[in-house]
Amino acid sequence: MAEQNNWLKVEDLRPTKDEWVDAVLADLDAFLIDHANCERKAAGMMMGLVAKFSDRVEIIPELVETAIEELEHFQSVFELLQRRGIRLPPTIEKDPYMQQLHQRCRHGRDQRFMDLMIICSLVEMRGVERFKKLAEHLQDEELKKYYEKLWREEQNHGVIFLELLRHYFDDEAIRKRLQWWIEEEARIIDALPPRPRVH
Ligand SMILES: [Fe+2]
Ligand SMILES: [Fe+2]
Repeated sequence: MAEQNNWLKVEDLRPTKDEWVDAVLADLDAFLIDHANCERKAAGMMMGLVAKFSDRVEIIPELVETAIEELEHFQSVFELLQRRGIRLPPTIEKDPYMQQLHQRCRHGRDQRFMDLMIICSLVEMRGVERFKKLAEHLQDEELKKYYEKLWREEQNHGVIFLELLRHYFDDEAIRKRLQWWIEEEARIIDALPPRPRVH
């Protein structure tokens, strides 16, 4: 396989507006609850790929590894919630960002596989971009340290999926579709109102 790609970087994403940081700082408890859910859902999405595409054995080791890391992130956010006396609500609200990304996926098996893997990359890189921005503005020392560490850990997740796609598609096809998705994701994130949520 060719050397590690650098097809997706934080700078390729539409920058998050300051209004989002204001919304998060105004209700950190709500943000932490949503963040915990996002980590758990990320692990679920990766294991969903392992279930749906289990014939593509090359993806399984790294997807399982990444899902474990996401579960560890869930564990650490859950510990933060517990220390702060914040309880997870019994119901989970829909995430309009994830819904809109999923609606744009193509339907053929190969196309769907490619789109879902690219979405994973974009969602991970968006996490890096937002956690980094939030860490810069947080006053709470514990949270500032936590998000400083987290965005670095998430960075590798932003490229893993693209790298795995190279087992099945040529670079040009991946790059072309990724470019389309970068623009779609920018449109989606721009249109969402600023809320104390990860997206
Ligand atoms: Fe994570
Ligand atoms: Fe991640």
